[in-house]
Amino acid sequence: MEHQFDFLVIGSGIAGLSFALRAARHGTVAIVTKKDKLETSTNYAQGGIASVLGRDDSFPLHIEDTLNAGDGLCHPDIVEHVVRSGPDRIRELADYGVPFNRSPVEGLEFDLGREGGHSRNRIVHAHDMTGRAVETALVSAAENNPNIHIYENHLALDLIVEHFAIKAGSIAVRHRDVCWGAYILESPRMELHTFLAHAVVLCTGGAGKVYLYTSNPDVATGDGLAMAYRAGACLANLEFVQFHPTCLYHPHAKNFLISEAVRGEGGRLIDRRGKAFMEKYHPLKDLAFRDVVARAIDTEMKQSGDDCVFLDITHREPDYLKTRFPNIYQKCHLLGIDITKDPIPVVPAAHYICGGIVTDGFGRTTLENLYAVGECACTGLHGANRLASNSLLEAMVFAYESAFHCAEHIQQWRKRPVPEIPACPIPMGHLNSIQSEMVLIAHNWDIIRRLMWNYVGIVRTDKRLELALTHIRQIRMEIREHLPNIPLSNDLVELQDLALVAELIIRCAIQRKESRGLHYNLDHPRKNDVAWRQDTVVRRRQVEDPRGVVGAANNVPT
Ligand code: SIN
Repeated sequence: MEHQFDFLVIGSGIAGLSFALRAARHGTVAIVTKKDKLETSTNYAQGGIASVLGRDDSFPLHIEDTLNAGDGLCHPDIVEHVVRSGPDRIRELADYGVPFNRSPVEGLEFDLGREGGHSRNRIVHAHDMTGRAVETALVSAAENNPNIHIYENHLALDLIVEHFAIKAGSIAVRHRDVCWGAYILESPRMELHTFLAHAVVLCTGGAGKVYLYTSNPDVATGDGLAMAYRAGACLANLEFVQFHPTCLYHPHAKNFLISEAVRGEGGRLIDRRGKAFMEKYHPLKDLAFRDVVARAIDTEMKQSGDDCVFLDITHREPDYLKTRFPNIYQKCHLLGIDITKDPIPVVPAAHYICGGIVTDGFGRTTLENLYAVGECACTGLHGANRLASNSLLEAMVFAYESAFHCAEHIQQWRKRPVPEIPACPIPMGHLNSIQSEMVLIAHNWDIIRRLMWNYVGIVRTDKRLELALTHIRQIRMEIREHLPNIPLSNDLVELQDLALVAELIIRCAIQRKESRGLHYNLDHPRKNDVAWRQDTVVRRRQVEDPRGVVGAANNVPT
């Protein structure tokens, strides 16, 4: 079935919803989301949104903290713009009904928490469930907007792209790639749809599921990164994977974060014997940048052979902890851990990918009509390491900027002739296959996640990265060879996307011959500002066809 909208948004987290609500003033919007509309990374964000709202705070201080975290790779103009836009975007969310905790202090709007790397209290939050509060308010606003249509259980397979090679004689001197929409798979009916739009906005979030241990929900399989790469867009800085230092360590806890706000309220990391260890690693101790804290925990665990370390907040008043962290208190309580009396067992886990699809200040990618907003984008804000609670802020600011840009151009776009769009070629798996090699999906999914955790984790070496590249290429070849025997399913599509993203992370990590921010390589332990103060960019070889080819980007092997 074919659908036509002014704007197609892929993903229903804070980026997609914020864009949709603003763009809906200028045209029709389809939001496609692969599961339930609330099942997004935003919904699980605990800490909050960083912004300059305190009396002792200033834009230059927030800018400086962001640049320090980014370790030389932030784009300063972007940092400045995002930080200065913060208070307006926060108030906009409050106007949508997000119940941020208010300050008891006269004249101060919001209660402001502290997280690692921040020199001031500036984290606006809704207890320890900020993401859920934001998601619920924005979904409700979108559902009440007649110009917005939300399609749940619609998984994007590939972008529809028109490729032009502009030639001088027989040599392609320039390429022009125009995105016209996306092929979408509706489950559980397994029906294929073509969604066409004047602007396509990827808001597909991160790729934490590429690692064995992650704080991300199951939907974080890097679909947007993979689709953009196949379509020929530039991606950058994928080696900078942020490992959150404190995920709950318990056999029955899946992906549960213990917010950095717990350390912001005085929580201390201790080992099994009760000894605090962060002073050995950084003067800011437990509130050092995340890369420092995650590496310190990794070192402690490797030296002691222990499976986890502990986060101790038992010195705070029980009533205060239950009110400030109701979600964490309850989850731990259900698992037999009383955070008012017991230190919480924690381990680092993959949390956020700082690189992504390269965009400019309006969220525009290197493909015409294609935008990327939120975790899947690389805007230049985070550089080599994201400052805590800067990500929801980034999503809101770029949703605003890209919707603003689209509004300027929509009248012109409506006049453009749409090329003939072929039906989806079903290049991955088979719609009606009765043969089944489902074991291949589960097996390879597991192998990729272990491979990434062991060889491309918190601490890397050249040897491990080379081995990882060899293995991932074999795995991708095996998947491709067996495609004819596998029925098309969400799991299969996600596996292919995950495998491609894993390879791209490894390729970026191999390129960077230094240690900086979140990328730490024992064979190149120092930062090299002369050679490496630059982004690592990956881009797929161009499809060279002078006629202009329209179709699913993955018609050609990657
Ligand atoms: C947290 O609550 O610790 C996560 C906040 C973030 O990742 O920015």
